[in-house]
Amino acid sequence: MNNQEPSNNKMEVLELSVVYGATKALKDISMGFPINKVTGLIGPSGCGKSSFLRCLNRMNDLIPNAKVTGRVLLDDKDIYDASIDVADLRRNIGMIFQKSNPFPKTVFENVAYGIRLKGIRNKQEITAKVEESLKKAALWEQVKDRLHHSAFDLSGGQQQRLCIARALAVEPHVLLMDEPASALDPGATVKIEDLILHLKESYTIIIVTHNMLQATRICDYTGFFMQGELVEYDKTSNIFGQPSNPLTKDYISGKFG
Ligand SMILES: Nc1ncnc2c1ncn2[C@@H]1O[C@H](COP(=O)(O)OP(=O)(O)O)[C@@H](O)[C@H]1O
Ligand SMILES: [Mg+2]
Repeated sequence: MNNQEPSNNKMEVLELSVVYGATKALKDISMGFPINKVTGLIGPSGCGKSSFLRCLNRMNDLIPNAKVTGRVLLDDKDIYDASIDVADLRRNIGMIFQKSNPFPKTVFENVAYGIRLKGIRNKQEITAKVEESLKKAALWEQVKDRLHHSAFDLSGGQQQRLCIARALAVEPHVLLMDEPASALDPGATVKIEDLILHLKESYTIIIVTHNMLQATRICDYTGFFMQGELVEYDKTSNIFGQPSNPLTKDYISGKFG
């Protein structure tokens, strides 16, 4: 563990473990996530990356046999504390999945949905916030003339950016992304990567990727997971340039995984 900016952490995980029944999925993970940086999580399939990400906004609460222990801090406050409103927390820490999951609604309504849930009723205000969110997600130009078409009419990459716009509309501080571009073609992937690099100026981003080149392109820090353990966590340039653990070296050079 050699995170260079410990005092700048937006989120911090302390001795986090996850079990599903008898399966131990994560073992004593401690790591911090610096504000306005992109942190990547890499490792072979089944090593616990998605389980870890789900702990960061309490999505594992929804999995009946999942047991989470340890602490997860957001701005130094434990998100598992009894005083936390989980719906608020999930707005504050948005999640983007591998398979984009727009609602079966119009482009406009996908983004307006969360804005209305926040209690905003004024039509002009909702319209302005929808436009602002679509602009932040680099989608406005492509959809401004078809806001009232079904979200499913958009391309795969546009649907993923719509999901990002939907998350941004409720004004989060942290974005969790679980392989957000792995179902997209190279052109759409570049757009998502560019967007992530732009968004990190305003948000703290934690992204799971199985694409090593993508990690080197967009991640400031990278954590390598294996069999539920955090093997190595460092600046991305160190992980890929001079990893200190031989397992990391073998993984990034494609020897397994
Ligand atoms: N809902 C679940 N119930 C039981 N086991 C699960 C569940 N989700 C994940 N696991 C197990 O936990 C381990 C880590 O899975 P996961 O977090 O999905 O890894 P990754 O995202 O790195 O592929 C695997 O052994 C997986 O089978
Ligand atoms: Mg996964």
